[in-house]
Amino acid sequence: MTVCEYSPGLEGIPAAQSSISYVDGKNGILEYRGIRIEELAVKSTFLETAYLLIWGKLPTQDELSEFETDILYHRRIKYSIRDMMKCFPETGHPMDALQTSAAALGLFYARRALDDPTYIRQAVVRLLAKIPTMVAAFKLMRKGNDPVQPNDDLGYSANFLYMLTERPPDPLAARIFDVCLTLHAEHTINASTFSAMVTASTLTDPYAVVASAVGTLAGPLHGGANEEVLVMLEEIGSKENVLPYVEKCIANKHKIMGFGHRVYKVKDPRATILQSLAQELFAATGYDDYYDIAVELENVIAEKLGSKGIYPNVDFYSGLVYRKLGIPNDLFTPVFAIARVAGWLAHWKEQLAVNRIFRPTQVYQGEHNLPYIPIEARVVAIDSNGNK
Ligand code: ACO
Repeated sequence: MTVCEYSPGLEGIPAAQSSISYVDGKNGILEYRGIRIEELAVKSTFLETAYLLIWGKLPTQDELSEFETDILYHRRIKYSIRDMMKCFPETGHPMDALQTSAAALGLFYARRALDDPTYIRQAVVRLLAKIPTMVAAFKLMRKGNDPVQPNDDLGYSANFLYMLTERPPDPLAARIFDVCLTLHAEHTINASTFSAMVTASTLTDPYAVVASAVGTLAGPLHGGANEEVLVMLEEIGSKENVLPYVEKCIANKHKIMGFGHRVYKVKDPRATILQSLAQELFAATGYDDYYDIAVELENVIAEKLGSKGIYPNVDFYSGLVYRKLGIPNDLFTPVFAIARVAGWLAHWKEQLAVNRIFRPTQVYQGEHNLPYIPIEARVVAIDSNGNK
């Protein structure tokens, strides 16, 4: 075994061999199973893309129809899960609600048969089908309303928007939302996927795998950035304020949300597609003034931080699209999770075939052979400011 040098954040350390997706960060290329994201965004659907990611090939018409029907059939959640969700605090973040609900699925579907393809398929179908229902249910239940049951006449994305807004969505809105899900479905070994893989490597159940990934996605340095971007755009308030805002962030070493990426050193290809989706949506349903602020921010940051490879990432334009679709800010990251569950499950399934428990090493920096001091003999350390 070769011993590697310590790399903070595991930057540059390969942690798996995978054929699910590919990122070329210098040239802004993203492929799922070898197919460019730009092509999938235009020609595929989220469920077809999920199938591609998880089973490694584009489905035939029969395979796709069967998969879509299975998912449609499993979209409802058990009344006891809804009852459990009713007890969640209404002020709780929807990502925390989702993490808890996803983990709870493991209580109801407890069988763990990781070598049984039927079990694998059922778990994939259940998670893809039920997560949108749980996200939409919490959105209504936290206001004291009953959740809306899935509508069997609507496809995956249209049905989610219907459960969320309580009215059938415009076909353009449903299509744009479906493209957003496709764009967010997978992205190699990022933090949440790695979390999923570490959890999966213990051979626990797929509901625990997804729940741990949801917890990781929630943080502002990862999926949570999409929510922070709109807060930032609101704080900036006008195009004129963009330059002073960026200068202040740079001077104070504050990260600007929605910019920068561990792998991409150019504009994230998903941000480019999301920007054009935002324009398409605004042309059909009305302009959003925050878009001008966002474009100005992108220009100023290219000038000030472009030399460091800081450009918009996937989270920068997604919030503007979601806002126009009537999705509340704190549901942006759960929507990301609805999509990314496809990628997490693809990695789970891929890893099961070659599993070895993750157990990295560390560089110990503490002391050795210290005496055990009895409690009555311990002194309280006081610093130069008199603080204990
Ligand atoms: N704003 C300003 N400067 C930045 C930003 C940013 N958003 N991102 C990176 N930088 C700067 C850093 O200050 C650092 O500068 P230095 O070398 O002069 O110290 C340099 O670029 C490298 O930054 P790191 O933080 O070391 O890069 P890392 O690869 O560890 O972090 C990350 C990547 C976490 C995404 C970072 O760019 C960031 O915090 N961005 C803002 C949050 C965000 O948008 N997250 C979503 C990412 S996409 C996703 O997870 C789905």
